[in-house]
Amino acid sequence: MGIVSPRDLEVDGPVRAIYRFLNDDHYVYKEQIMKIEEFTLERIQSLYENTVELNLSDSGVHPMSLNDLLSEDEIAELLDLELGYGWTNGEISLRESIAGLYDDRGPDDVIVTNGSAEANFLMVMSLLEPGDEIVVLTPNYLQIWGWARAIGVSAKAVSLREELGWEPDLEELKSLITPKTKLITICHPNNPTGAVLSLEKMRALSDIAADNDIYLHADEVYKGSELEGPETASFLDLYDKSIVTNGLSKAMALPGLRIGWLAGPAETIYAAWQRKDYTSITTSAVSEYVAERVLRPKLRQKILDRSKKILRENLSLLSDWVDANSDHVSLNPPKAGGMAFVRYFQDVNSTELTHALRKEKGVLILPGDVYGLDGFFRIGIGSPREHLEPGLARISDYLRSNTKAHAVGG
Ligand SMILES: Cc1ncc(COP(=O)(O)O)c(C=O)c1O
Repeated sequence: MGIVSPRDLEVDGPVRAIYRFLNDDHYVYKEQIMKIEEFTLERIQSLYENTVELNLSDSGVHPMSLNDLLSEDEIAELLDLELGYGWTNGEISLRESIAGLYDDRGPDDVIVTNGSAEANFLMVMSLLEPGDEIVVLTPNYLQIWGWARAIGVSAKAVSLREELGWEPDLEELKSLITPKTKLITICHPNNPTGAVLSLEKMRALSDIAADNDIYLHADEVYKGSELEGPETASFLDLYDKSIVTNGLSKAMALPGLRIGWLAGPAETIYAAWQRKDYTSITTSAVSEYVAERVLRPKLRQKILDRSKKILRENLSLLSDWVDANSDHVSLNPPKAGGMAFVRYFQDVNSTELTHALRKEKGVLILPGDVYGLDGFFRIGIGSPREHLEPGLARISDYLRSNTKAHAVGG
């Protein structure tokens, strides 16, 4: 498995070959080779998450079932549902519920997608063209990084710095913006660090986008899973050229519904709808029925409260484990989200460590390598305690019995 480092992989954009690209209302032909890099973060999970004994690689919260969510009457209604295509941009009442999560938005400002993954994909295909530049705040989920580069966009990384509490240096960000920059993108709350920016910092980031008249995209799929305090603001409410991705997979603990959305300026949302004609056409009618119900304020809050309870309890378990193993690991605790990004001190590559733990201990974590940050691993804290507790014990067991390599930090 290759080691991915965003900086190492940076290229300058398109090279030869014909690529057909849908512009706003006509096709243009550009010269480019489409080179799709492996999305290592997802690939490792796809390969092993269903066969490993203790899967601690997930970033969401242990999922709920239909019985947990629907009343008997609703289940009966669901069984009677006609399985048509419906609205290919999302059923109207569902789009209205989603729009209601933001200030002054309507159903035309929203498109419902198959997971947040499709929302990110459509955002790239709607806003970016070969030759454009984007600035990506990293670490990041890296789907947008990888797909934008595949279509010939040049991606520049700005690091969220651990020493700044995983915040960016905004002066560095400004220095990367050029006349070709079309978009800044951030994953907020952050995957994998769980960092949340202050409202002041969010406004400062929006101001940079506004000063340069460029789009600001935020993947907000972890919004609502804040461990303490109120729900984080949405970038959508801070700047008129912002566009956000969200969905029900993480904070809302319903990844199997495959419901996500993109919300932003109506013309961008319309362009995303045009692209969706080429991807999945529509989302599942069954999922949309459930999604509309879980987004009603009372049930939404109940689900988020459950998520936060699980995450808080598991973070406390993880923090105790980190304290007990402070000669091997350290943690800057997450403020939101279903994962923690743990620094380890052994001089072993994180991908090697991941595969050794998987093979020898039956535990799956994610290596920092997939984010271009070796020396860390990501561990899910939304997993059931019965998995997390023995999984952590096996990891410390492994670290203690493999001290062949020297410690590289304290
Ligand atoms: C930040 C982020 N965005 C998008 C996704 C895709 O999620 P889904 O398509 O399940 O909503 C993930 C999955 O891990 C993620 O972490």
